[in-house]
Amino acid sequence: MSHGYSDVLIGLQFGDEGKARVIDLIAGDYDIIARFNGGPNAGHTIETEKHKIALHQIPSGVFYPDKILYIGSGCVLNPEKLVAEIKELEKVGVDLSDRLHISGQTSVIQPHHILIDKLTNKAIGTTENGIGPAYADRALRMNGNRLLNIKIEDFIHNNDFAIKKVRENLAETLRLLSGINYDIEESMRRFKESLTVVLPFVERDTLFVDKKVRNGARALFEGAQSFMLDVIKGTVPYVTSSHTAAGYAYVGGDLSPRYHRKTIGVAKAIMSRVGHGPFPSEYGGMASETYCMEGNGHTHDKAFEAELNVNELLRSDDFFDIGRALRILGNEYGATTGRPRRIGMLDLVQLNYAIRTNGVDELFLNKCDLLRDFSRTKLEGIPQVSAYRLENKVIDYVPGSSFEYGQVTPAVEFSPGFNETITEMKDMTDVPKSLTNLLNQIEHHISCPITGMGVGPKREEYVKINPSKEISRTAGD
Ligand code: GDP
Ligand code: IMO
Ligand code: MG
Repeated sequence: MSHGYSDVLIGLQFGDEGKARVIDLIAGDYDIIARFNGGPNAGHTIETEKHKIALHQIPSGVFYPDKILYIGSGCVLNPEKLVAEIKELEKVGVDLSDRLHISGQTSVIQPHHILIDKLTNKAIGTTENGIGPAYADRALRMNGNRLLNIKIEDFIHNNDFAIKKVRENLAETLRLLSGINYDIEESMRRFKESLTVVLPFVERDTLFVDKKVRNGARALFEGAQSFMLDVIKGTVPYVTSSHTAAGYAYVGGDLSPRYHRKTIGVAKAIMSRVGHGPFPSEYGGMASETYCMEGNGHTHDKAFEAELNVNELLRSDDFFDIGRALRILGNEYGATTGRPRRIGMLDLVQLNYAIRTNGVDELFLNKCDLLRDFSRTKLEGIPQVSAYRLENKVIDYVPGSSFEYGQVTPAVEFSPGFNETITEMKDMTDVPKSLTNLLNQIEHHISCPITGMGVGPKREEYVKINPSKEISRTAGD
């Protein structure tokens, strides 16, 4: 039998592009769906006819019973949260036994990681899941004789030893923090209890994915977070702590790059960002960042904004108000934390940077249905960022320094809008001409074919696009 292949799907902006809905659409064409980075900081939403779920650690192929779901060694794992997720899925009839495999090399998020993250997260605005401290301990490895990086298979190999180390790490953290009211026994009890559910899913064969693909399996790697949050290539330090770039799929996903076939990028037509950090195309700029992050992101939450008058905000002359309206209309609140997402125009300079750096072969553009809302504003059309100006020079790349990135001034262009509701549309021939022209314009800017367009959140609300020959030729250049 000839060997299989693997594709990588990543988000190209600041997260929440609708990666999960695209995975759910294409999962039928694969045998294995695998996560390779991140942990429960991810919130991946799938909306089928019957169910709406947000996945955090389990790959988005859950609704295809014959698919293998794999959590790779590049991830960090919260066992308690995994148990909660398994139970949620059981409630909607998803059985994971014999399907879910967790690499034994996956590092565990220990209770002290969560504690530290909660106490130190404010400047970045993390999800408080202990992600940064867990990856930091993985890199630190040991502190004297104290083992910091504990992998999930350590609890199989020598459970008493691993548990003792988790307790030691927690006790030492509490000692250093002195004065914190924390029930160490209760925390350890819950941690140990969750392991009894999680350990049967641990895969100890480090060649598990390799063997499957060599025997013909097709693997799809599911990126979490997104490219602009990469720990090196993103807007450092306002990033997550793992690699979100496509290349990392072949480290954290436990497969050799020799099987790579193509890279699929996912973006959304109206961008968002959660947490702090530069975002040149943000509606309302600094005012929006401050507003969204007030109370660590909890003051102006969904319930607060539900009281606002959307039509009035849309008609405003102030970009900050337009951003608020677009957030309400697009339901842009964190799937993991419920925080309001900062909203911005589609930024073609940023998108081009992500596409070039990751060698993206095709793009799926979500949330195109929401572009219709621009016809209700006073703006002259649909805005996009087409260039940056930095220190009086026009630049076509994302600066490597976030501090410089925070100083770029975006050049904004407007494309003609449209009035029609496109959510029910299935074919490009039905789509308004002005939207087709906009897609062509985007394709030319990024030299990458757009092969799908999200026109609503539900599974079937998308339009498949056959790429124009001209663009297919330039892709991957
Ligand atoms: P992910 O983290 O990239 O998987 O994305 P999230 O699930 O965090 O956020 C994407 C949100 O947008 C979810 O609520 C989806 O249901 C929704 N969504 C995805 N595609 C579309 C689309 O084309 N139109 C609309 N209106 N919503 C979409
Ligand atoms: P998905 O996979 C959007 C952001 C946080 C914060 C920064 C660091 O759903 O796209 P962390 O908890 O990772 O240390 O937080 O990264 N962040 C995300 N933003 N979508 C995500 O995941 C995110 N995961 C982390 O808001 O700014
Ligand atoms: Mg998300």
